Amino acid sequence: MTQPWTHIPIMVEKIADFLLRDPDGIYIDGTLGLGGHTHYFLSRLSPQARVFGFDKDEEALRLAQERIADNRLVAFHASYTQAPKIIRQAGLPGVNGILLDLGLSSYQLDNPARGFSIMHNGPLDMRFDLSSPLSAADIVNTWPLQELERILKDFGEERQANKIALAIMRARKEAPLQTTEDLKKVVEQVLPRHGKNHPATQTFQALRIACNAELETVQKALQLLPELLLPGGRAAILTFHSLEDRLVKNCFKQLAEQEAWQLITKHPLAPDYQEIRQNRRARSAKLRVIERIK
Ligand SMILES: C[S@@+](CC[C@H](N)C(=O)[O-])C[C@H]1O[C@@H](n2cnc3c(N)ncnc32)[C@H](O)[C@@H]1O
Repeated sequence: MTQPWTHIPIMVEKIADFLLRDPDGIYIDGTLGLGGHTHYFLSRLSPQARVFGFDKDEEALRLAQERIADNRLVAFHASYTQAPKIIRQAGLPGVNGILLDLGLSSYQLDNPARGFSIMHNGPLDMRFDLSSPLSAADIVNTWPLQELERILKDFGEERQANKIALAIMRARKEAPLQTTEDLKKVVEQVLPRHGKNHPATQTFQALRIACNAELETVQKALQLLPELLLPGGRAAILTFHSLEDRLVKNCFKQLAEQEAWQLITKHPLAPDYQEIRQNRRARSAKLRVIERIK
């Protein structure tokens, strides 16, 4: 039977080779998604192993649990930043490995109702967690000009941030922006189309990051690594844009200046040509791995 979802896990074998050093270990998949990585990890782990899976997206979590159906997976509808509390509550001193596969899954991107995609019209939503109060529509319709300009610059690296922010302000005076199509049209009015990317691509990225407080959350998670990882444990982080990768790179560099930590990947690793050919979404992935050695 064809499954109603698809998301191809990226660099899955390589990540498993780096992370799964104790077959009986306890692991965290901080971004369970549809469980692609965890599903494979469990196939390489013993019956004693456990994976604590986290996702902000309740629907994805439910699908992952259904698909994996394995009592070695303990799943939580929570941000990965809640992991220390949950690991402590489970009476564990820490974990042997952590995976963060940042960003969004194809399951979210391909679903027009979630409002993430520039390709499909849908409500301007973009929340990973549908119980969170702030949607992308709230941002574009209520935030002041300076804030819109700031997120477009800082999270979208958009050079025309001011132009786009002003266009949003003008448009919302007429009527609130409600759909992804509304937002695309506003950006198209001020930025000509050229090249293969739609001119609103960076605007969509900025809004998604702002709406889910993505960079603050990643930064917080990085600070939690010393609290979570046992000696000999490793963290593997997959990023999909330079803003996230920079945070990971800087944090790992600082940790590696301490005796207790060692960089496992001196430079980020990327999927090979074959993987990118089979999965276009792998093309911007970068993997960094660090070990707590004592
Ligand atoms: C790229 S997908 C993960 C895909 C997964 N590795 C797989 O193979 O199916 C990223 C997932 O992280 C989730 N997510 C984003 N931020 C999160 C956070 N702070 N805490 C927990 N989950 C988060 C998203 O909802 C999404 O499902």
